[in-house]
Amino acid sequence: MGIMSKLGLHKGSAKTASPGQLGGAAGLHSSEFELSHVGPYQIQAPIGSGGMGTVYKALDPARDVTVAIKVLDRRYDLDKKKSKQDYLGREVLIAASLNHPTVIKMEKEIINQEDVEGNLRRCLIMEFIDGYNLKHFIDNRILTIKQMTNLTIRLAEGLDFLHQNGVVHRDIKPANFLISRDMSQVKICDFGLSKSSATWRTRWLKEKGGTRLYMSPEQLRKQTLDARSDIFSFGITMFELFTGRHPCAGNNPREIQKQLLSSKYRFPAPSSINREVPERMDRVILKALRRNLDTRYQSCTEMLLDITRVSGSRI
Ligand SMILES: Nc1ncnc2c1ncn2[C@@H]1O[C@H](COP(=O)(O)OP(=O)(O)OP(=O)(O)O)[C@@H](O)[C@H]1O
Ligand SMILES: [Mg+2]
Repeated sequence: MGIMSKLGLHKGSAKTASPGQLGGAAGLHSSEFELSHVGPYQIQAPIGSGGMGTVYKALDPARDVTVAIKVLDRRYDLDKKKSKQDYLGREVLIAASLNHPTVIKMEKEIINQEDVEGNLRRCLIMEFIDGYNLKHFIDNRILTIKQMTNLTIRLAEGLDFLHQNGVVHRDIKPANFLISRDMSQVKICDFGLSKSSATWRTRWLKEKGGTRLYMSPEQLRKQTLDARSDIFSFGITMFELFTGRHPCAGNNPREIQKQLLSSKYRFPAPSSINREVPERMDRVILKALRRNLDTRYQSCTEMLLDITRVSGSRI
């Protein structure tokens, strides 16, 4: 049995538990993981898994610091063989050069580590955030409107920074926003990686039914993307944060995808679901969710101006 299923975590289901609950509770030892170490880092416990691989909590013994390591799925290497250029390597290099309090810090080197079956796996080293991803707060409905607004502002600032540095995230969704337990740290992760994984990812979506629920209409249509696509995905994320549910009412992913694409489906006002949402926040979210690229927010800076007006006035 694979390690993730032992933990009740299934590949592709993007389930997460707080790191403290994993490993120890299940009585697992690092020898039972697909890797016991990555370069100098000692693997401690799996944190979760998603579209590109599995994320582990690990120890850097030299600095006595905990790091997070994303061990890319084996098939991820196919990309590399196909193209002479190492796109992923280049993107990681760009990602690692970005410095912002709301953007997760990444190491620039990708470590190639042999796993227990003798396969060479590509591993990305990042700063570890001891806390939860945004899905936790969406599911548990424990934040006040003021806290939701503050989180939104911080995340939009980080996204604005990425965009101003020429990085389109392409995979904006609650699982890619990390928040520390005391909420002092809020971080965007997995930025700029999905371009190199586009082909791989499409296959994963087909085979494993990964999520398209946060994709912009232009992304679903496989058109060229710019920062505005991230703004749409951020709109869905904001909608979920403020209301606890997705803006589409479909019963299955296929129906939801249809509603995302069709202008016949009107997104409800968030305040019609959660009456505490200020009307002006409704307008911000619905403007981020415009299907027409020309009438959607053109930048996060523009959206932030409207959000801070909302927070300044009513909350
Ligand atoms: N640096 C980190 N520190 C702490 N937890 C992390 C870190 N990176 C990821 N995680 C946790 O691990 C989970 C799985 O991450 P992963 O990126 O593999 O999956 P995902 O975000 O659900 O999907 P995707 O592959 O589309 O990004 C995340 O949802 C997050 O909760
Ligand atoms: Mg992720």
